[in-house]
Amino acid sequence: MNRKDFPLLKDTIFLDSAAGSLKPLPVLDEIMEYYKEYPINTHSVDSLLGAKVMKKIIDAKKTVANLVDASSNEVIFTSGTTDSINRAALMFEAFIKKGDKIILSAYNHSSNSLPWILLAQRTGAEIVHSYNLINDIDKKTKIVAYSQVNNTLNNLKNKINPVELYDKVKENGAILINDAAQAVVTENVSLNESDVIAFSGTKTYGPTGIGVLIIKKELLSLLKPVIVGGGTVIDYDKEIHFKDGISKFEAGSLNVAGIIGMAAGIRYMKKYDNFEKKKIWAEYAHDQLSKLKKVEIISQKGDYNVHFRIKNYEPQDVVSFLGHRNIILRAGKHCATYLFNNMKIISSIRISFGLYTNKEDIDKLVKLIENTEVFIDAV
Ligand code: ALA
Repeated sequence: MNRKDFPLLKDTIFLDSAAGSLKPLPVLDEIMEYYKEYPINTHSVDSLLGAKVMKKIIDAKKTVANLVDASSNEVIFTSGTTDSINRAALMFEAFIKKGDKIILSAYNHSSNSLPWILLAQRTGAEIVHSYNLINDIDKKTKIVAYSQVNNTLNNLKNKINPVELYDKVKENGAILINDAAQAVVTENVSLNESDVIAFSGTKTYGPTGIGVLIIKKELLSLLKPVIVGGGTVIDYDKEIHFKDGISKFEAGSLNVAGIIGMAAGIRYMKKYDNFEKKKIWAEYAHDQLSKLKKVEIISQKGDYNVHFRIKNYEPQDVVSFLGHRNIILRAGKHCATYLFNNMKIISSIRISFGLYTNKEDIDKLVKLIENTEVFIDAV
């Protein structure tokens, strides 16, 4: 991997990959090539250029599917993980009734909790926020929504074994949803270990505005589209006759540039990332920051991200101070609102890592924190 593939790194320390990774030049080149050389709509493909678009889309689906042991006819392109999970909640609504149980991991990002809470409000199902999914699953459970890797705390300690979880879910006849937005850039993720997987291009070294909802084919064949429009039907009058197969779930003009870019990002990741480095950097950053008296570490050693606070300063002020010196981090509850409120953590500073992170990035951050006395810029 060549850090020059990420021009921003020339003068910026980027430690916010959990929010969205940087996009390497080969990905940007592929997106530009589409717009310059064959900018054809997937509904209008009767030309050589159109055939090229279709081939790119088919190949991109294969790339995404292969990443998680799925097949192309299980992959629905969406605008991102949030869109994917909202759609899943609407699609499963027909199977949820009053008294059913929906279990949400307490560690969930809001986008894997709120759509299920709304579903429960519409149907009368019961919501259980759980710190111990395997214990809480029973015969009333219909949906279990979790993240194989979450975007905040407790990633490795007390980590759930996906196989064990999936076995328990299946024994009880429920459906397992894996919000894999963080997991696909951190660990192996497999559709053999859940029923539904969602993730985004922007975290997999690709563009924003593109993601996937992947559903096991046995389940998908029972589900109806919830977003409809061009490309989904054979004909309709009073009745709608949907197409067979996956295209009935992909209404409207596809985000071709996004799809091509997402696949290019995944290919780049597979070529250069064996996921080991990020664990090493997380431990290293944890150790280095632990040496500073002014720092309170909130995460545990072994977590994939490092969360901390600087005594006497609001995380947002610190991150803004660092951000104005081209060191990019994130502060807040990181959309893990339930977890942070429940654990009574008002906010944290998060460091997260990408395949381009190096030791120098971390050393520069730690040194600046060590040598700074006041973390608020004079106005
Ligand atoms: N989900 C993104 C994060 O964790 C936005 O920062």
